[in-house]
Amino acid sequence: MHEPRRFPPHPELSARAHAQPDIYAKAAADPEAFWAEWAQQLYWEKPFTQVVDWQEPFARWFADGQLNASVNALDRHIAAGKGQRIAYYFEGERGDRRSVTYAELLQEVCRLANGMRKLGITAGDRVAIYLPMIIELPVAVLACARIGAIHSVIFGGFSADAIADRINDSGCVALITADGGYRRGNVLALKAICDEALRNTPSIKHCIVAQRTHEPVHMQAGRDIAWSALIADQPDTCTPAVMDAESLLFLLYTSGTTAKPKGIIHSTAGYLTGVSATHKLIFDYHEDDIYWCTADVGWITGHSYVIYGPLCNGATSVFYEGSPDFPERDRWWEIIARYKVSILYTAPTAIRTFMKWGDEHPARHDLASLRILGSVGEPINPEAWMWYREKIGNGRCAIVDTWWQTETGAIMISPLPGITHTPPGSATLPFPGLDIDVVDEHGTSVSEGVGYLVIRKPWPSMLRGIWGDPERYQATYWARFPHCYLAGDGARRDAEGHFWLLGRIDDVMNVSGHRIATTEVESALIEDQRVAEAAVTGKTDAVTGQAICAFVSLRGGANGSSELAAELRAHVAHSLGKFMAPKYIMFTPELPKTRSGKIMRRLLRDIVEGRTLGDTTTLADANVITELAQRAQQERASEAG
Ligand code: WTA
Repeated sequence: MHEPRRFPPHPELSARAHAQPDIYAKAAADPEAFWAEWAQQLYWEKPFTQVVDWQEPFARWFADGQLNASVNALDRHIAAGKGQRIAYYFEGERGDRRSVTYAELLQEVCRLANGMRKLGITAGDRVAIYLPMIIELPVAVLACARIGAIHSVIFGGFSADAIADRINDSGCVALITADGGYRRGNVLALKAICDEALRNTPSIKHCIVAQRTHEPVHMQAGRDIAWSALIADQPDTCTPAVMDAESLLFLLYTSGTTAKPKGIIHSTAGYLTGVSATHKLIFDYHEDDIYWCTADVGWITGHSYVIYGPLCNGATSVFYEGSPDFPERDRWWEIIARYKVSILYTAPTAIRTFMKWGDEHPARHDLASLRILGSVGEPINPEAWMWYREKIGNGRCAIVDTWWQTETGAIMISPLPGITHTPPGSATLPFPGLDIDVVDEHGTSVSEGVGYLVIRKPWPSMLRGIWGDPERYQATYWARFPHCYLAGDGARRDAEGHFWLLGRIDDVMNVSGHRIATTEVESALIEDQRVAEAAVTGKTDAVTGQAICAFVSLRGGANGSSELAAELRAHVAHSLGKFMAPKYIMFTPELPKTRSGKIMRRLLRDIVEGRTLGDTTTLADANVITELAQRAQQERASEAG
């Protein structure tokens, strides 16, 4: 973690950057005025007069104003004469391409919005969206926003059960999906997965099915309707619903420390303010930029920085459907060269994967158009940071390591590319207008050192709660330290005030930037009749950050086998989603427990990391742990060999 190097901004970048050094002092002097100024850049049907109303832990921003999110993303650019600007360059995995202008995107949004209205979907209804990375995904999201429906996007990697749970939690009335999608050359049969999910979702009245793969799908009469049929007679204009600033824009589920995912809720005006301000300042977005955020819209990064942030700023984005190694491992670099991408926003896992694949792939392409490189989702190690800077950025580009969460809605800690002298591996400083701190276990601020990351003041794009569970919202985020939002991450602050993010402090793993609760995987494992107990922990992984490692004990003291491990993996994949299946499964006659029967996860973490075992004095049966530690050691040795 000791990294003395600093990289100053390129003078050319500094000279024309939107954010100039005085921004920090100005925002700190009057944060409310700072945010209000950004909010005023939005298009309001009825302007706001109030800035923030804070009844801890519930915030209301710009609450007496009215607006529509889709109008802010689309109509106002068209009104400004920019309808012919490209909103998205769509790049299909198989090489099909399509440019979509702002005017065209609006027409598609309006037709779907009209179709949804005809089905009776109305403001406040929840609509689930389970789509591959095709243009229909932003269209569906914005069509919901147009009519005031609350969208709940479900990542395309989730299983039928996971879809049903999310639909049922918020009582969605409709599901928008596709026949299938393409991924690494394969067809994913999304509609078939939805059919399975929809067997257990009584609230769903309609399922709208887009066509991507043109494979035949089952269509249930009275419930399922083809997207094309729904919009066939619909006009391409649609009066937007005029929404209150605080009306809910979307729900997005994320893992907590229990097996039940939390439906994080975001409202309209504050969220749009946060994402448009951060997109403009952190990526220093200018009209001549070509921007590419590689995130899937199924996660918050896709919501904020593929859809709402860039569209509110009228940006031109690349939108890629598939995987980075299809057909070859240079697909991304080929895309960047072809579209002359100038801003790239991606995840450390991807960067480390490219490092492993070799420098020759990016080296084959002209990446000179790039000027800003972003990173998000996990801590980026200085080595990956330097590789990103040198091999992708050719030593010229600014790197912005951005820390934030589903809950924060927008980036919270990040360099500003025209200002910050950046140390590799640090997200550096809180975004202007935010009050972020590191505190010790008593809640006392740690000016230099390690502690819990907290946020002391409400911010516009903050979550407004957890769907249907205000107590859990209070208990999860606002109970640990008085008047502080608890992020759940550890952080170190150095002598210069820079923040170094250290990973989660709770039982949440971060695998390739995906947040996964240990308990979710555990409860999927014990669904198998043969499993007596399971304990799951993250193991440091050179590429994915962490890998899922499960300790499993079987009923009747039975022995495990590699066949059973494969079956359990397949079961978790089926019950939750492939990306949540454990990479390592270790069978053990017993799990290490305290005398009162609590699983000692700390020791399991020590075992998987090969660390000297921590304090074992409270352990009921010391033999269990010695044996596990020996076996883990053997496995590491054979892996290395
Ligand atoms: C982690 C993703 C270190 C962190 C936007 C956080 C990071 C969780 C960074 C949120 C970063 C995100 N450096 N860690 N730059 N960005 N994280 O909700 O643990 O999917 O709490 O939001 O990812 O994940 P989420």
